[in-house]
Amino acid sequence: MSHFSYRDGVLCAENMPLTAIASQFGTPAYVYSRKALVENFSAYADMCKGRDALVCYAMKANSNLAILNLLAKHGAGFDLVSGGELLRVIAAGGDPKKCLFSGVGKSRDEMALALSHDILCFNVESIPELHRLNQVAGELGKTAPVSLRVNPNVDAKTHPYIATGLKANKFGVAFDDALATYRTASQLPHINVIGIDCHIGSQLLDDAPLLEALDKLIELIDTLAQQGIVLHHLDLGGGIGITYDDEKPVAVRDYLERVFARIDQWRSTRHDGAPIKIIFEPGRSVVGNAGVLLTKVEYIKPGAEKNFCIVDAAMNDLMRPAMYQAWMGVQEVRKRNDAAVTYDVVGPICESGDWLARDRQLAVVQDDLLAIASAGAYGMTMASNYNTRGRAVEVMVDGDRAHLIRKREEPGDLFALESIPA
Ligand code: LLP
Repeated sequence: MSHFSYRDGVLCAENMPLTAIASQFGTPAYVYSRKALVENFSAYADMCKGRDALVCYAMKANSNLAILNLLAKHGAGFDLVSGGELLRVIAAGGDPKKCLFSGVGKSRDEMALALSHDILCFNVESIPELHRLNQVAGELGKTAPVSLRVNPNVDAKTHPYIATGLKANKFGVAFDDALATYRTASQLPHINVIGIDCHIGSQLLDDAPLLEALDKLIELIDTLAQQGIVLHHLDLGGGIGITYDDEKPVAVRDYLERVFARIDQWRSTRHDGAPIKIIFEPGRSVVGNAGVLLTKVEYIKPGAEKNFCIVDAAMNDLMRPAMYQAWMGVQEVRKRNDAAVTYDVVGPICESGDWLARDRQLAVVQDDLLAIASAGAYGMTMASNYNTRGRAVEVMVDGDRAHLIRKREEPGDLFALESIPA
């Protein structure tokens, strides 16, 4: 069920009209539905209940403290990709012991920080990274828990920028090198090999590639066990997509059901009898449909070839269209009876690439509000300050209450760290 719906012709987040939010907080504004966040997370968490399984929310999708805090309260662990993200988890009241550290380029400082907080696991992506982690852990008198990110060479059938499981990608250890890499890892004194992980891509509509990856990981776990390397967890990464336009992604519950069915079948034949924890790292499917970007029409500019609807949000607020030619839904906040006109919805930034949507039928006039739909994931976290534009305010709606969860950045905030040499 969507928690963004029209009531008396006005688009609401839960019980709050977006018109009221714009009056109170201004625009552009990211607006999230608390209920939607909890429901989306629960689709994973409920299926994991009673099982040895953990949902580590991929916080790169949206790392606002209020969202992390809410998910932590519902039992979430976190998949993080920087020391900064770990500090966010801690600031939000999350548990570092439920955190995975992913990414191809972890620095020494980041490793040391994560070790000092006893995170659950490092998802390691290369042999040089293993050696560095072994050294840093040794210096600190620690042992680093490690999973290897294996690249199963499965075609995720998604946008090339967000497909990550193919041989040509920078991510993971090649499937054919995995055995040798595990052997190397298991010989390092400050490394404790505990798991295996993969992440084949994002915005996957079908779970077949994920189940194919699962089968490959299972096969590898069995081979490793025969060689005396026993793994304790299997992490399938993130990836289930959401509806932006008319996509029909597999239901999260159906995907998890198929994963657990496969795991149970395998467990019944696994000879070493070792228990195995299953981990998921969803990002987009938890927050994507739980947020909109609320923006105001500044000008209507008719043109010879195109009509432009110039709004106060821009590519710096929402990069996905400019970066991936991503299609984002645009909704009039207050429905008008006027005839719709075809517009490109664009921002004020001095780049032709600064567009949010193209060729949309809209009935709008100056000062109207629009909502860019499904903007909760990879919206605010990818925002920049290009053109010295402060990042948008963030608001979380809970029933008929709206909470400010991040203030709007003011221009002074943007140059506060800069200095002029004497
Ligand atoms: N785990 C790892 C290791 C990842 O790299 C990612 C996303 C996830 C989990 C979460 O995947 P999800 O459940 O969100 O599909 N900025 C792009 C998406 C980049 C995804 C990067 N990795 C976009 O706006 O479409």
